[in-house]
Amino acid sequence: MLVMGIESSCDETACAIVSEKKELLSSIVWSQYDEHRRFGGVVPEIAARAHLEQVDIIIKEAMKQANVDFKDLSAIAVAGGPGLIGGVMVGVVTAKAIALAHNLPFVAINHLEGHALMSRFTNDIEFPYLLMLTSGGHCQILIVEAPGKYEKLGGTIDDSAGEAFDKVAKMLNVGYPGGPNIERCAFYGNPKRFCLPTPMKGRAGCDFSFSGLKTAVRHQIEELEKNAPLSEQDKADMSASFQKTVVEVISDRLKNAISIFKDKYPNAKHLVVSGGVAANTSLRDALLSLATKNNMEFAAPPLKLCTDNGVMIAWAGVERFRLGKTSCLDFKAKPRWPLDNMDE
Ligand code: KG4
Ligand code: ZN
Repeated sequence: MLVMGIESSCDETACAIVSEKKELLSSIVWSQYDEHRRFGGVVPEIAARAHLEQVDIIIKEAMKQANVDFKDLSAIAVAGGPGLIGGVMVGVVTAKAIALAHNLPFVAINHLEGHALMSRFTNDIEFPYLLMLTSGGHCQILIVEAPGKYEKLGGTIDDSAGEAFDKVAKMLNVGYPGGPNIERCAFYGNPKRFCLPTPMKGRAGCDFSFSGLKTAVRHQIEELEKNAPLSEQDKADMSASFQKTVVEVISDRLKNAISIFKDKYPNAKHLVVSGGVAANTSLRDALLSLATKNNMEFAAPPLKLCTDNGVMIAWAGVERFRLGKTSCLDFKAKPRWPLDNMDE
């Protein structure tokens, strides 16, 4: 069984072809960094137009690299939301046209489900598992029970961790995309120089809040700038202090989640992290040690498959298609699409 996955919900136009046996035949990701860099963030209208210009080229390239024709495919999957609606529509309309023209089953994938199931493609992970889903648009802890079956233990009450990385990067003027640049700067910085608040830490439950942390960073930057423009060392120290704080908060919230998860599923063993922020090495290291302390196994996709890609959509397509969970061609692109109760 071969499934094609198309992704266009944010600032990556991507297409991949995977098999049910977890073979990766091709994966093309075209990032729109150059289009958005001068604005310091993603501009939805520019993103939609760029997806439209690229999507056919990316699909052709993915098919060429995989050496397959449409007739070799078993189904076509596409990210149907949540995301920037213009971009999602480009992917959905393209996938529908291919499905209709080549008489292929059409599978609309929740982008978050793509991230949530990604580790099952790269690692041997059985349901149920505990998932920290941390990307630019989302920050939530879920129990993954099956495709389409998620229990949300907590989420953010304001910003996501990825958003905080991006906004702090903008304040420090270290460039877009924020996460990888903050991580690079943090490498040379002193994580103890700035004392930052750790919102929600120590509280019951599994919710997050990052907006106060972001504001605290802004105030400290403003204080520094009263004396002199930020030096490279200031930027590195702030990046390291901020990154350490985010990792501390996520680990704290996950501690509570692990205890809820273990009460419900005493024999389940995996703690999985996915989404763009899962590419952060400090976070991966901290979660590996948290899992080990709690007799759990840690898993995360390889760095390249943490941020948006077509493989996650194609693989979620395999998982759904083999359960007979295909979609109708009247499916509408969704700007919002929560994971819990998603099939209802
Ligand atoms: O999953 P993703 O590609 O897109 C969404 O679904 O939102 O995640 C993008 C987010 C951005 O906020 C980006 O700054 C963050 O993931 N990110 C990172 C790293 N790489 C990407 N954050 C921290 N450290 C990284 N290495
Ligand atoms: Zn994503």
